[in-house]
Amino acid sequence: MALTKNQLIDLYRLRAGWYDFSANLYYLIGFREARYRKQAVAALGLKPGDTVVEIGCGTGLNFKNLREAVGEEGRIVGVDLTDAMLDQAEQRIARQGWTNVMLVQCDAATYEFPPEVQGVLSTFALTLVPEYERVIARATDALATGGRLVVLDFRQPENWPLWLVRLGVLITQPFGVSLDLAARKPWEAMQQHFPLVTTQYLFGGFVYIAAGEGRKPGN
Ligand SMILES: C[S@@+](CC[C@H](N)C(=O)[O-])C[C@H]1O[C@@H](n2cnc3c(N)ncnc32)[C@H](O)[C@@H]1O
Repeated sequence: MALTKNQLIDLYRLRAGWYDFSANLYYLIGFREARYRKQAVAALGLKPGDTVVEIGCGTGLNFKNLREAVGEEGRIVGVDLTDAMLDQAEQRIARQGWTNVMLVQCDAATYEFPPEVQGVLSTFALTLVPEYERVIARATDALATGGRLVVLDFRQPENWPLWLVRLGVLITQPFGVSLDLAARKPWEAMQQHFPLVTTQYLFGGFVYIAAGEGRKPGN
């Protein structure tokens, strides 16, 4: 069963202190997390001076790449549900002396995006949000012309046997992943809102990066 929001908060409060370390452990099975993050940020197509919102930013593992893309003059807004994850992000920001990264503790489902942002990113987080379709709709509305929404997340590959899918879920379970999350398909919701969605598949199809751009007539 998918975890409730309170269960997710409890889980991430427990994990926050060693989240970055545990994320690195996945390298042992060939999961090239840092590379996937770079690819996702590159897919945003950001320029110096841009504003980008990260949904479910956690401890801020994408902030360095995002800062490199938007520069000192750009702005990064990290949104997350879990206080303890944001505490870790805050410590990262202080350690690095970054002045253009702000944090918001909020459920993504109710977050009011600032208007006219150039990018919205979510990595390994959007599928955990039951109202992900609403988040995508709101992100679409918030994007300036030419802005993009990029989602990096897990999905159930069509061609994997069930035992392999179960293994994938088991390995990612410490982060709140469960088999029934396979029914949540953010990339399909993105296709409803964006005329153009480009998708890359990684790690044997268990991971995807979807980038949506443009506005459908009537949206
Ligand atoms: C697997 S972590 C990913 C963190 C970060 N994006 C990364 O790539 O390292 C999932 C994050 O999503 C956050 N999250 C889960 N549900 C959320 C919601 N409804 N609104 C905002 N954040 C949420 C959790 O608190 C957690 O920090």
